Amino acid sequence: MQMNPNFNKINLNLKNIDYNQFKSNRLMKEFNYGNGVFLRFFHINNMEYFKSCHITNPFILLPYEVRYGEIEGPGNVRPHIDHRRSVALNYYFESGNCITRTYSLKENALMLAEKHNDGLSHNIYRDEDLIENGSFVAEDGDAYLLNVSKIHSVECPGQKIRKFISYSWDYRNTFKEIYNGLIDYAI
Ligand SMILES: [Fe+2]
Repeated sequence: MQMNPNFNKINLNLKNIDYNQFKSNRLMKEFNYGNGVFLRFFHINNMEYFKSCHITNPFILLPYEVRYGEIEGPGNVRPHIDHRRSVALNYYFESGNCITRTYSLKENALMLAEKHNDGLSHNIYRDEDLIENGSFVAEDGDAYLLNVSKIHSVECPGQKIRKFISYSWDYRNTFKEIYNGLIDYAI
């Protein structure tokens, strides 16, 4: 299996249950992109129950955090890199037919730091500084390992809310190390 440096499909076995039960009412972060698109992360409701929904444990290197995520559109989560975390494994239980794109950066490109309501800057890039180098559309039930230290965007074409679980690793591990830990589950 050849590793893609930006994203790789992973077979994450979760029980066939009502995944909406994972969402708590405790908001962790909210990003308002100012174009009608909101990205919201919530704490997981009942972590013991969440853990019990995994049929297998694919994680040799354990994530430091797990979140429930939603993207409300339609519109774009503009090209950006994530804060603090470097690698994410996203399990899309309602994909919303959104398109995830990855990019490389042209020379002399600008990064725009924008303030959000969590008090953190969010690293956003201008479209004209970017070269798209890959994309995927997840189906419901797909999981993808994402290099969120590389520039990525999400285009949500419809009214349907994208719902997903997001496992996070930080810069203590490289993308390759996390991928190698999951390699038996790579598709
Ligand atoms: Fe992101």
